[in-house]
Amino acid sequence: MKIRVNEQFALLEENYLFSETGHRTRAYQAAHPEKKVLRLGIGDVTLPLAPCVAEAMRKAVDEMGVKETFRGYSPEYGYDFLREKLAARYRRFGVRLPAEEIYVSDGAKSDVGSIVDILGENEVLLPDPVYPVYRDSNLMCGRRVRFLPAGRENDFLPMPEGLLREPYVIYLCSPNNPTGAAYSRAQLRAWVDFALESGSLIVFDAAYEAFVEGDFPHSIYEIPGAEACAVEIGSFSKTAGFTGVRCAWAVFPEALESRGVGLGALWRRRQATRFNGVGYIVQRGAEAALSEAGERQCMEAVAYYKRNVRLLSQVLVERGIYHTGGLHSPYLWFACPEGERSWEFFDRLLATVQVVGTPGAGFGKRGEGYFRLTGFSDRASIEEAAERLKTVL
Ligand code: MLT
Repeated sequence: MKIRVNEQFALLEENYLFSETGHRTRAYQAAHPEKKVLRLGIGDVTLPLAPCVAEAMRKAVDEMGVKETFRGYSPEYGYDFLREKLAARYRRFGVRLPAEEIYVSDGAKSDVGSIVDILGENEVLLPDPVYPVYRDSNLMCGRRVRFLPAGRENDFLPMPEGLLREPYVIYLCSPNNPTGAAYSRAQLRAWVDFALESGSLIVFDAAYEAFVEGDFPHSIYEIPGAEACAVEIGSFSKTAGFTGVRCAWAVFPEALESRGVGLGALWRRRQATRFNGVGYIVQRGAEAALSEAGERQCMEAVAYYKRNVRLLSQVLVERGIYHTGGLHSPYLWFACPEGERSWEFFDRLLATVQVVGTPGAGFGKRGEGYFRLTGFSDRASIEEAAERLKTVL
C-alpha cells in the first residue's frame, strides 16, 4: 500500500506497558510451569461482583429475554436511572450536579483516551510518572506533552508552582495511579485556582476515589470553582469489580466552556457519533452498585484490597524502604533496591520469588528505579507475596 499511516505512533513504546509485563510473565510461566507465580502487576480486581449487583444483572438479562421488556440501543449518554443515581452519589460528597452533566461510558480508559477528540492544540501537562493512557493518547494525535516531575521531593504530587499562567490541559489522578499518592484538599485547591487563573482545563481521573481515607477529596468538584475548569472521570472498575463488566462516567459541567464553546456540547456530539452506549444489563448492575446494599457490599471488597496493600506496605516499613501509596489506594509504589533499574527488578523478582509487579519506568522516566505492586489479589497470595518479598528486599 502507499497510504500514510499515523506517524505519531513511532513516538510510543513498542508495546503497551501491561502487554509487555503480561508477555514476560507468560513466557516465564511457560518455561517454569512448576512455579507458582503471584500476580500483583496489573490492577485487576479478583473478588466477584457484589451479590446485589449480580442479582440486578440477572434480572436485567431476564427482561432482555422477553419481548415486552427487551431493549435495543441504550441512550447514548446513559439511562436516566443510572445518571440520577450517580448524581445522588455526588450529593454525599456535598457536590450538586444535575444528572444531565454525567455521561455514562464503557470505561475511564476510554474516556481519558477519547477526550483528545474534543480538544485542540494545547500544551498538555502530565505528571511523570503517569498512567500511560494519558501520555499515549495525546502522543498518538500529535499533541505537545510536557511532564511535571514527580518524585521524593514532592511525595509524587507535583504542584503548579513555577508554571507560567498559560492555558494548558492538565491531567491529574488522585488517588494516583501508579504512585497511590493522594492530593489533599489544599493541594487540589491550588490546582483548581491555577486552572481558573490560567484558563486551563483539568482532566481529573477519580477512578480510585473509593480508596480515599479521612478528609481527602473524593471528587474535584468538592473544590469551589472546579465546575468551571475540570472534567471528572469516574469508574465502577475498581470500586464495584467492573474491570471485565465495563462501566464508567465522565462529568462535563455546563459551566465548562472555553472561548464561548461548551465542552459538554462537544462531548455529547463526540459520544453520539463514536459511541453506542453501555448495555442495559451493565447499567442495571452499576445502578445496583450504587444502592445502599450495593455500596456496603462494594466497600467490603475495597476494604479487603486495602488490607491487602497494607500487608505489603508493612514489609516496606519494616525494611525502611521509601514508598508512597498503600493508604488511599490499592497501589504501593516503592524504590527498587539500591541502584537497580525497574525492569531489572521486575525480571529478578519474577525469576527469584515469582512475584509479578509493574516496573516504575513503564510509567515514565521519573518512574525509573521504582516499582508498583497492587493489593488486588486474594489474601493468601498477598501473605505469600509478603513473605517472598522479605527475602529479596
Ligand atoms: C493499572 O494496572 O494501572 C490499571 O489496571 C490500569 C487500568 O485501569 O486501565
